[in-house]
Amino acid sequence: MSNKLTCEQLFQKNKIVPVVILNDIDKAVPIAHALLEGGISVMEVTLRTPNALAIIEKLTKEVPEMITGAGTILNDDHYHKAIKHGSQFIVSPGLTPELAKVASQYDAPFLPGAITPTEIMQALLYGFNYLKFFPAESYNGYEVLKALSSPLSMVKFCPTGGINLDNARKYLALPNVVGVGCSFLIKEEQVASGNYAKITATAKETLLSVGVF
Ligand code: 3PG
Repeated sequence: MSNKLTCEQLFQKNKIVPVVILNDIDKAVPIAHALLEGGISVMEVTLRTPNALAIIEKLTKEVPEMITGAGTILNDDHYHKAIKHGSQFIVSPGLTPELAKVASQYDAPFLPGAITPTEIMQALLYGFNYLKFFPAESYNGYEVLKALSSPLSMVKFCPTGGINLDNARKYLALPNVVGVGCSFLIKEEQVASGNYAKITATAKETLLSVGVF
């Protein structure tokens, strides 16, 4: 199954994908509104907290203008639950045969992770040509993605891991990069203090710095 068309739509308008690690359900909706006000309408809620699935469900129901996806999907149980709770897209740091199989049962865009040419070719065999590239900075992501853009030009990437205000624009300028994922937009201290205005300001600043208005 090819995931090209749906991933294409996902990244057409969303170059910055905030990666969210959140457990406080009550903060989910204000965070989503803060991001929307800052011009960002996508959130990857990672399954790293006990309430992540409840947060995905709440966002899907209460903030329909936000495209809410699930991240850190490591197995088929995560995948089924994420979809059941309303996830509109699914992200994994890697790819297993189990994940490829479960992904084929749903229409939601799936962004599996791959780094090496062999892993990328394996993902292509399964029909996935939109991939996460994680952890980007640890793997010298900019140079690696640049090098991959010629022999594996049919693959598009969303690098994450170490993406910040200083390097996002550089990554996005690569022909094979369709978006970048980053956690710095939703900082723990801002969430704890309810500083949603800062989240909006950071979102605006980020979009400006990468040239997306
Ligand atoms: C992650 O899955 O944690 C993301 O890649 C975020 O990485 P970052 O915290 O370096 O932005």
